[in-house]
Amino acid sequence: MKIVVAIDGPAGAGKSTIAKALADQLKLRYLDTGAMYRAVTFAALDRQVELNDEQAVAKIARECIMQIDDDSISIDGVDATKAIRGQEVTRAVSVVATNSLVRTELRNRQRRWVDENSGGVVEGRDIGSVVFPDATLKVYLTASPMVRAQRRVAQSGGDVDQIAREISERDQRDSSRSDSPLMKTNDSITIDTSNRPIDEVVMQLRRLVSQNEPAVDAQG
Ligand code: DC
Repeated sequence: MKIVVAIDGPAGAGKSTIAKALADQLKLRYLDTGAMYRAVTFAALDRQVELNDEQAVAKIARECIMQIDDDSISIDGVDATKAIRGQEVTRAVSVVATNSLVRTELRNRQRRWVDENSGGVVEGRDIGSVVFPDATLKVYLTASPMVRAQRRVAQSGGDVDQIAREISERDQRDSSRSDSPLMKTNDSITIDTSNRPIDEVVMQLRRLVSQNEPAVDAQG
């Protein structure tokens, strides 16, 4: 029986850390869909394609060979693992994420990835709402804006007030776009990770997955 855990939420809510740990414990693979939007953005910047040219950026999304592993990503043979976390890509990615043609292509790739891996823990913004509406478990992770900014600074450095402003602008763009905005679904469980140890959240999710897992056929 295929297990799919959808983990959505804003930047800095703890999605990656929690999704990776949960995948590890459930012996599933982990997919960071934000890295896919970032990789397309990286390729567009690298090739000097105008980001507002929706067709040109979508062509990259459709035609690229994207190799995604747990800790690395390459696009058309170029290792983009580090570059996709840089400021240039981080500032530009939400423009690419509003491109519906890109979204359609990346969603298809995400569904194929889950089929090929017989399930997985998938993190993003529209995973429970659009990509896998029938996921075994849907989780919406959140944290206070200050905690989220502090986590980003601890990861990549920078000034906490400026990072907080950038995060809030990105949240605003992610939540207000017309195609699959960041939102909670009625059937998702919301967890505020501001003051909770990661291990405790992972344990809670593990329990919820086993409660939601489809029962194995009694004959089988
Ligand atoms: O999670 P992240 O910061 O790496 O995501 C990068 C950008 O991609 C961010 O602006 C949100 C967007 N995104 C999205 O629109 N849909 C997803 N499923 C994942 C990320």
